[in-house]
Order: sequence, then C-alpha cells, then structure tokens
Amino acid sequence: MAPSALDIEEEQRHFANVITTFQSYASYSLAANNRRRKDLFTLPQADQELLSSLGYKEKLDEVDKAIMANAEFLKQVVVDPEIFGHEVDEGDYEGADGEWHADDRDSSSQTQEHQHSHDNPDHSHSHSHSHHGQHDGHSHSHGHPHSQSRTRQKRYKPTEFDMDKLRSTLKQLVRDWSEEGAEERKTSYEPMKEALLAHFSDIPPAERRNFRVLVPGAGLGRLAYDVASLGFACQGNEFSHYMLLTSFLILNQSEQVKMHTIYPYVHSFSNVPNRESMLRAISIPDVVPNLPPGSNFSLVAGDFEEIYGGETDPEEPQSGLWDAVLTCFFIDTAKNIVNYLRIIHRILAPGGVWINLGPLLWHWENNNTNDPSVELDLVEVKELARKIGLEIKNEKTIGATYTTNSEGMLGYTYRTAFWTATKIA
Ligand SMILES: C[S@@+](CC[C@H](N)C(=O)[O-])C[C@H]1O[C@@H](n2cnc3c(N)ncnc32)[C@H](O)[C@@H]1O
Repeated sequence: MAPSALDIEEEQRHFANVITTFQSYASYSLAANNRRRKDLFTLPQADQELLSSLGYKEKLDEVDKAIMANAEFLKQVVVDPEIFGHEVDEGDYEGADGEWHADDRDSSSQTQEHQHSHDNPDHSHSHSHSHHGQHDGHSHSHGHPHSQSRTRQKRYKPTEFDMDKLRSTLKQLVRDWSEEGAEERKTSYEPMKEALLAHFSDIPPAERRNFRVLVPGAGLGRLAYDVASLGFACQGNEFSHYMLLTSFLILNQSEQVKMHTIYPYVHSFSNVPNRESMLRAISIPDVVPNLPPGSNFSLVAGDFEEIYGGETDPEEPQSGLWDAVLTCFFIDTAKNIVNYLRIIHRILAPGGVWINLGPLLWHWENNNTNDPSVELDLVEVKELARKIGLEIKNEKTIGATYTTNSEGMLGYTYRTAFWTATKIA
C-alpha cells in the first residue's frame, strides 16, 4: 500500500526531529553537566572546599571535553542527512536565551522508535527502504510538521527520551563496533553464528551466498555484517533512525580502524568506581567493514511487521523467502508476539532455521501510548511457537549482557533464551 501524504509528512518530521536531537547533543549534555557545577555553589563554603580538594571541578571540566568529543562524532553521523532522502533544517535547538538549561530538559518518556526511507544504491552496504505508515511513540505534541519547522522558534526541542536514545546509541557502538564490545559479541552473536553454520554445515562456503539470512532489529548491524562476512546473503532490518544513521556512517564511511573516539560513559555519575572508568575513551570501529566482491549485504529500513508481514510488494513476496531468521534481543520488541512468530514461520523457507537469543523484556509493557502489549512468559512463548508450527531445538540459557559498562559498579546479566527452530508444517 502506498504511503499517504500524511505518512510521508510524519516520516519527514520524525527524521528531522532525530537530526535535531543529534545536533542538540552538545548543548543539552553540557547543560546537564553544568547543573553539577551550579549545585556546588549551593553548598556551604567548607563543603565546596573539600570537594575542590578532591578535584571534583576538574572532573566536570574533563566531562565537558568528553561531551564535545562525542558531539564531534555525532556531527559526522548527521553531516549530510539529505543522502537519506529527507529535507532537514540547519542549526541547533536553543532555549529562549540561546542556551540549554538543566530545566529545559523534557523528561517525557515515550516508548518506541521509527523507520526511515532512503535509497542508496551507490554504497557497498545498501540501506534500502520503503515508505510505510508508522508510529513512533515520540511526543508528537512537541514536534511540528516539517513544513512548519522552517523558522528558528519552531524547531523541535528534543526530549530527555530522545537524548536517551542518542546516549544509548553511543553505548550500542561499543557493543557492535569496538574491541571492548568483543566479549558481549562473543556471548550473544557467536552462538547464533555457530548455530547458523551448523545448520548449513553441508553447504560449501562458496555456495553460502545462495542462502538468505534475515536479521530483524539489526541495531547497528554487526551481527548482520558478520553473517554476510561468513558468505551468506544477509539482510538486516531496523526501524530506528538513530541506529540507521549511525550504522550508515560505520558501514559505509569507515576508512580505517579506530578512526573515531567516543566517551559513552560520561553521562551518568552513578555507580562509577573511579574517574578513569567514566572518562575512558572507546575507539571505533574495531574493523573496517569491507566485504569481498560479490557479497550480498543490505540493511532495510522499516518496521519488521510491515515489511515482512504484509505481502505488499508483489515483486518480492516474503513467504518462504528466508533460509534463516536470526533474532537477537528482538522478539520482546513485539506488541503482539503472535504476529511476530507467525511472520517468522511464514517467511522461513522449507528447511530454514530460526535462531533466537534474547530475554523477554517486553518493550511495550506499561507503555503510555495506549498501544496493546502481550507479555508472555518463556514457557508460553515456546508453546506458542510450537502451535504456530515451529519446532524448537537446541535450547540453552546463555548469560549475556547488553550494552553494559564493564567497568561500572552496576551490571545486569540476562539469562537469555537461546534456541534454534525449524518449521514443522
Ligand atoms: C534490543 S535492540 C537489539 C539490537 C541488536 N539485535 C543487538 O543485539 O544489538 C532491538 C532493536 O530492534 C529494533 N526494533 C524494534 N522493533 C522493531 C520493528 N518492529 N521493526 C524493526 N526494528 C525494530 C530497535 O530499534 C532496536 O535496534
């Protein structure tokens, strides 16, 4: 179904808002750090002196510098957003007096992300796209239709929710594209790749390119890239503009390893054992993404259910098209897990395999946008899969972290569910 004019306008507006969020990162984050400076002045003189003797103020200065370095990187991500096929405004959001204040930060919390559209056949790792109607759960009341956002006063003011997405993107870069992320990738991506190779162990490596692997919710694209590096035809699917913009830079514009330096841990002072851990620099990427000629790798922007669930494109019906579907920390993004599993079942080719690894952190539980959410326990998910026609095998529980700060004083380890599944019927 062709997108309506309203869909396109909505899409443009969301994209423009994400760009504004990237552009506002420095002023927003510096204001947050400055709050700490201001708070110092409210303390008794003796307390201020004691804290000064610890070098607390110098630490705040170091954090400012790290924020500016992050801003430099983020600027590169959105330096040329027009290549994504959207028009965007120039400049930064500014408060009434031209600066961000701690109070300017909007704490409205929303739940979901978005897709974007863009065709970029010139690049080795194509992001192919289609317009689809979409909803992103972002605070539409804060935004303005793109056509109206030309004047400076009317520019979008990023919310705390938007900034949180951006800060998470920095941590996601550690997971997918840094040496520090190797451990996390080893626990999550390695078992999935091994299971894929095991399932197709009778296929000679040179013929793997005839087998199509889909990675829905691909994040910053590392798992999908790794699968393509193994020789399979691999398509990642992702709907977050934050992820799509950032993965585009890494996948298509990395000239050498460690060409960027980011400081993902400077945004919170909680659970920090020492300043070195908070201020540590992360170099990215750990590899220059470079696939041999003849490789088949793409990232498709858009909603998984819309792209793979609706038989909208007669040129490319999805039914039975995929020899493997790899879901890593993905199935719990479903509003309706029944639909996700039905789609996975339908798009799997005969003899195909679904490989899953992840927790059940239902993303839509307690959403404030009145979206439906079905939250099954693990036993129910597996029973549902069976009823839908997927036979689950090779079950394991794998301890895995997700964008964790390995040097922080707090660390969650998920007891993730791993399995492979094949079509019974
Ligand atoms: C928890 S992250 C996992 C990312 C990646 N697989 C990894 O392991 O690092 C879930 C990802 O799925 C994406 N996502 C959520 N719902 C989606 C949907 N309906 N269609 C496409 N992508 C979606 C999110 O934007 C996010 O990048």
